[in-house]
Amino acid sequence: MSDFPRFPPGFVFGAATASYQIEGAAYEDGRGPSIWDTYSHTPGLVANGDTGDVACDHYHRYPEDVALLKDLGVGSYRFSIAWPRIVPDGTGPVNPKGLDFYSRLVDELLAAGIEPAATLYHWDLPQGLEDRGGWRVRETAERFAEYTAVVAARLGDRVPRWITLNEPWCSAFLGYSVGRHAPGAREGRGALAAAHHLLVGHGLAVQALRDAGVREVGITLNLDHHLPATGSAADRDAVVRADTLHNLVWTEPILAGRYPDTEEDTWGELITGQDFRRDGDLELIHRPLDFLGVNYYRPIVVADAPYRESDPARRVATDNRYAETAMPGVRHTAMGWPVAPETFTGLLVDLKEQYGDALPPVHITENGSAEDDEAGPDGTVHDTDRVSYLRDHLTALRAAIDAGVDVRGYYVWSLLDNFEWAFGYDKRFGIVRVDYATQRRIPKDSYHWYRRMIAAQRP
Ligand code: FCB
Repeated sequence: MSDFPRFPPGFVFGAATASYQIEGAAYEDGRGPSIWDTYSHTPGLVANGDTGDVACDHYHRYPEDVALLKDLGVGSYRFSIAWPRIVPDGTGPVNPKGLDFYSRLVDELLAAGIEPAATLYHWDLPQGLEDRGGWRVRETAERFAEYTAVVAARLGDRVPRWITLNEPWCSAFLGYSVGRHAPGAREGRGALAAAHHLLVGHGLAVQALRDAGVREVGITLNLDHHLPATGSAADRDAVVRADTLHNLVWTEPILAGRYPDTEEDTWGELITGQDFRRDGDLELIHRPLDFLGVNYYRPIVVADAPYRESDPARRVATDNRYAETAMPGVRHTAMGWPVAPETFTGLLVDLKEQYGDALPPVHITENGSAEDDEAGPDGTVHDTDRVSYLRDHLTALRAAIDAGVDVRGYYVWSLLDNFEWAFGYDKRFGIVRVDYATQRRIPKDSYHWYRRMIAAQRP
């Protein structure tokens, strides 16, 4: 057992999923349409024309999935709640059947001795709200707080850990400027407005969760560790822009109560000329948190890039400000992402250095890898690359703890192979294989490894 990294007593091991990626049952029990239904059903946007209509059919098979979690030995399970199951149009009547589903799931988890960790928004915005402007408009943040209050009133007594938003960077920038996520918009100002309204929605949701008296409240960010492609001043400037766009846009207001001082250099008049910020917003966004959720997968090597887009309104799109380049000498996963676990330690240590005592305890709310799994005739998968990825990243995480970062938990992404957004079902991140033709679940070697690693923590 000595090759397993060891963690401090009380450290929480978990597994994570998200509603649209696993639930299916897209038209059942009163669920309304989300922007991901619209996006995935638009020809040409998702690989193979895949959609989340059926996904892993978790909506019906959740008892089997909870049994897999129990056997794995995790202390916590992170799932997300589909807003359009609860408020089908995003505003107006609440759908009791949607609440009932999550209530059954939570009871099943508690009966298995697993603590539920609920994410309120993992990207499935009700289409009705997008039709009224989506995250570009402040009203969406207000509706988010109302939905949060409804969910917290029903589940708050049984769910100890709450995450307001998952990776708002993806919602704002992939969704409204790069167009690679729903709603597929390619805008400049719209994306910056979306980022701000997501922050406001977070602040309002924190308040709603506090009012409901829940135990722990946090947010999950996909913080990126950027490395300059060369030592040139231009590449180092590109790193500052990338850091602003990926990280500081969230961490500065949330942890420090200010907007990034590099924002003007990064966005010019798109940010200076904005009118979506209001007095009092920073106080709202800067509410104290019990933890910060960090999702980490890979470092990003950035090189300076000229504006390739003639339309200045599109200047916030990541590919107009810098280019991601390959990282030499390391393995890349099936996503093409470099595997460099030491950058995981580096990110966390830097974050602690940057924010000091303003950094709340950290939970790693996602980490894992997509690999080109080959299933044997019986469906088994010897995913040695994924096992190494997990072992090396957990070792790197332990190093961050040793360096003084207060990390309390780790959730592997993902329990199941699932709908990987624009990549459809082509990319498999699960530690359990899903045979989509039969919906059979087959634990991979990485599942067995993670199970032994968790068991090895017991004194
Ligand atoms: C993160 C998402 C998650 C999953 C992983 C691979 O950005 O939060 O839903 O797609 O990446």
